[in-house]
Amino acid sequence: MRSLRGCRRRGAIVGTVTLCLAAGWALQTPGGVSLIVPQPNINATVAQNILLSVEYSCRGIATVEWKHVSSWGTTKIVEWKSGNYINISSAYKDRVTTFENGSIQLLNVGMRDAGYYFITVTEEYGTNTYGTIILNVYEIIYEDLHFVVVLFVFLAAVSAILICFMWLCNKSLYLFQKKTHKLTASTTEEIELETIEC
Ligand SMILES: *[C@@H]1O[C@H](CO)[C@@H](O)[C@H](O)[C@H]1NC(C)=O
Ligand SMILES: *[C@@H]1O[C@H](CO)[C@@H](O)[C@H](O)[C@H]1NC(C)=O
Ligand SMILES: *[C@@H]1O[C@H](CO)[C@@H](O)[C@H](O)[C@H]1NC(C)=O
Repeated sequence: MRSLRGCRRRGAIVGTVTLCLAAGWALQTPGGVSLIVPQPNINATVAQNILLSVEYSCRGIATVEWKHVSSWGTTKIVEWKSGNYINISSAYKDRVTTFENGSIQLLNVGMRDAGYYFITVTEEYGTNTYGTIILNVYEIIYEDLHFVVVLFVFLAAVSAILICFMWLCNKSLYLFQKKTHKLTASTTEEIELETIEC
């Protein structure tokens, strides 16, 4: 009888502890922030516009902060609080667009934009979440090829024009020579005639 009661009490304690834990978890969850980074690795080419796409969700109003970390150091890009303020660092003015879901668009990326992008979403009650996106930026080899092709076409056109010009020169020289030949022929005839007259 006694042991059975003890068991029941222990069961009740375990139940209470579980309930308390569950309640604590339930209380904490609404304060938590979640962040989804669908594409944590982006390959881009120079001069491209890229979207650092994320989606955060939380109950209150969150503060979003983006930082860039590379071998040149850490730079703060932008910090904003939905409906409150937006603070874009001077280095990124006119280059950054922010979105409601926490994403940012970076215009006209260069080699220096490669590196790590860290997003921190801080919720009103102090909890925060982090996310990382790695950006690789490649130079466009195709542009060099384009230049070579343009140069080749230009040179071909120039040589074609030169060939035409030379052909024309040759032709006109031939015509000129023919004319002068005729002329000299006629003058000699005239001279001959003159000598005959004399
Ligand atoms: C980016 O390029 C690397 C190789 O340089 C490749 O392994 C990776 O899958 C690429 N990522 C994307 C998202 O295209
Ligand atoms: C965030 O919003 C932008 C703009 O509306 C959208 O292009 C992007 O796909 C969104 N990101 C996610 C992860 O939903
Ligand atoms: C905006 O950025 C400037 C310079 O980084 C800083 O002095 C200022 O306190 C920031 N404002 C807010 C509201 O974060």
